[in-house]
Amino acid sequence: MYNVRRIDEDTFWVGGSDRRLALFENVFPIPRGVSYNAYLVLDEKTILLDTVDRAVGPRFFENLNHLLDERKLDYLVVNHMEPDHCATMSELVRRYPEVKIVGNTRTITMIRQFFDFDVEGRVIEVQEGDKLSTGRHTFTFLLAPMVHWPETMVTYDASTQALYSADAFGTFGAINGNLFADEVDFPNEWLPDARRYYTNIVGKYGLQVQVMLKKATSLKIRSICPLHGPVWRENLGWFIEKYMRWSQYIPEDRAVMIAYASIYGNTENAAEMLATRLAERQIRNISIYDVSVTHPSIILSEAFRCSHLVFASTTYNGGIFCNMETVLRDIQTHNLQNRTIGIIQNGSWAPMAGRQMGEMLCSLKNMAFLEPTVTLKSSVKTSQIAEIEQLAQAIVDSFQAANL
Ligand SMILES: Cc1cc2nc3c(=O)[nH]c(=O)nc-3n(C[C@H](O)[C@H](O)[C@H](O)COP(=O)(O)O)c2cc1C
Ligand SMILES: [Fe+2]
Ligand SMILES: [Fe+2]
Repeated sequence: MYNVRRIDEDTFWVGGSDRRLALFENVFPIPRGVSYNAYLVLDEKTILLDTVDRAVGPRFFENLNHLLDERKLDYLVVNHMEPDHCATMSELVRRYPEVKIVGNTRTITMIRQFFDFDVEGRVIEVQEGDKLSTGRHTFTFLLAPMVHWPETMVTYDASTQALYSADAFGTFGAINGNLFADEVDFPNEWLPDARRYYTNIVGKYGLQVQVMLKKATSLKIRSICPLHGPVWRENLGWFIEKYMRWSQYIPEDRAVMIAYASIYGNTENAAEMLATRLAERQIRNISIYDVSVTHPSIILSEAFRCSHLVFASTTYNGGIFCNMETVLRDIQTHNLQNRTIGIIQNGSWAPMAGRQMGEMLCSLKNMAFLEPTVTLKSSVKTSQIAEIEQLAQAIVDSFQAANL
């Protein structure tokens, strides 16, 4: 049975949620599920903004069938060609053979790559700033390459002042009836997943997100309709400000995250001792993660949130412990910048992890390394407590100086 929600007079959400999928993109755990949003506008011409993942295809077609009610579908706007939004496109074309597909030149290339249906005579190729009127509504297409794929664009409806933002402003998390961000406790219930979604999926492309934000903020926007998660119609500035920070790699919070890798518990011991020393110096809300337990996507997301990051690793086969290496590579590939770093290493015969972790992080812009690097040769000795105290004090000193 159809399940739609009205957004504006003639604009509807026609998407669906998947609470069964274990790994989004076959990588990211999504315990809160995920939604695939698509939007239908019933104007003089009918226009659909994006389709959905295969997982929610049957419900999506029921939704369309119900709202179109014997009308034909005139246009499909393809803001993003990734299969979580396009896997149902060929079925859509089969059901609505007269539909015209609106996309840019890269979109059209990708349609041909993914599908075998006949594209000729079916596509309307648009360029930056092109407009399409459906009667009361006029849609403007703005290219947003690499937010998340090269063909990505966003679509602005001037009559409702809605921005159809593709993956931008999206988040993991199923829609539980409450489609609008103002109907949920977004800062407490959703923000960690929104941050994890942004940082892992688009975090690498901060510059391109900045370009998109510049275009978007020059428009008068009353609502943001992303492809995943809640629709924004209130307090947009709050969420846009988060995007401004994330995309410029500015820490969101003045906070310390300690990520450690430990086999027998000695490096863990040093990480916890450091945290206690920090707490004694009035540092609040410290986060500690065991990189073998917590998914790298969460640690990456926390690294984008926190101003101060401590990495503690055992030496493993002459290098960094494997799970820590994965986390650091993730941080490296996502281009994190502007952080203050502390390092703890351990090794029973030739500790190497510290230097190698430093080298990985050195390649990133504006990373400040704190002294001392604490080196354990198996376990923490009484003589080393002072060193851990020194690292704690160095964090506190730079913490107080940090002006976020
Ligand atoms: C498979 C394996 C490989 C290791 N490779 C090294 C090494 O290359 N260099 C070194 O100094 N220690 C190496 N170690 C030893 C650990 O780094 C060391 O025992 C450390 O104290 C473990 O800290 P933990 O108690 O936090 O696990 C290795 C240990 C294991 C299990
Ligand atoms: Fe995507
Ligand atoms: Fe997506």
